[in-house]
Amino acid sequence: MREVMLVTGASRGIGAATAVLAAERGYDVAIGYRQDPGAAESVAGQVRGAGARALTIRADVADEEDVERMFAAVDAEFGTLAVLVNNAGSLGLQRRLEEMAAERVERTLRVNVLGVFMCCRAAVRRMSTRHGGAGGRIVNVSSVASRLGSAGEYIDYAASKSAVDTLTLGLAHEVAEEGIRVNAVRPGIIYTRIHALGGEPGRVDRLKARVPMKRGGEASEVARAILWLASDESSYTTGSFLDVAGGR
Ligand SMILES: NC(=O)c1ccc[n+]([C@@H]2O[C@H](COP(=O)([O-])OP(=O)(O)OC[C@H]3O[C@@H](n4cnc5c(N)ncnc54)[C@H](OP(=O)(O)O)[C@@H]3O)[C@@H](O)[C@H]2O)c1
Repeated sequence: MREVMLVTGASRGIGAATAVLAAERGYDVAIGYRQDPGAAESVAGQVRGAGARALTIRADVADEEDVERMFAAVDAEFGTLAVLVNNAGSLGLQRRLEEMAAERVERTLRVNVLGVFMCCRAAVRRMSTRHGGAGGRIVNVSSVASRLGSAGEYIDYAASKSAVDTLTLGLAHEVAEEGIRVNAVRPGIIYTRIHALGGEPGRVDRLKARVPMKRGGEASEVARAILWLASDESSYTTGSFLDVAGGR
């Protein structure tokens, strides 16, 4: 019997790599995406190619109705949800704090914090033994930015990931006796398109000399850490943070 994993923001980057690896490891996969159905369908094709069932669901994680609809779609198509990967995340153009518009900070916090909060809430309502569920695992995609601060680039993003870390810890304790493990990965600088959103597509290559391993990471390397936290291999691990950052 294949377990079901929902990955938010899975149309590209770390989320897409996680969805495809999950299929290869035996999960059926729900692929959340916000705005590119073609990209999401392409990931779904790779998931099906690995022998798994795939479902694409358009949902902005910052929108409460979208989040509820996304989980209802997973219920209807797949039944019991075993793993939630809160991967969807965003950032704004590189700016110093005094030049940041309040609306931009608000949007970053809505997507990266409120989005994770609302997806965790929907997952716990389904997974917790307290609500008659069978348990489950939640893996949040935070960032080493939460402990580095992202000065001169996006302090709002770093602060949002700090909130994800605290949410991870608190929720892990809250549901530890209810069959749910909650952990986070904290990627370093990974080759994905998120850096273009900040206005610097080549950011990984600019910064890689500062990484002890002297290279940027690949989305697949983060996906392997996520899959470990999702699996029974990490059965005694909860409220933990796995940095995937080349030593940074
Ligand atoms: N790459 C890095 O160096 C790095 C480092 C540390 C942490 N991370 C974290 O890793 C996660 C994945 O990022 P990535 O590097 O793979 O970036 P990416 O290539 O930009 O992918 C981000 C994904 O999230 C989706 N997304 C963005 N806002 C969303 C929303 N409101 N609702 C639903 N989906 C949304 C995007 O879809 P749309 O295009 O449709 O918006 C896209 O599929 C993020 O949480 C990011 O903060 C990345």
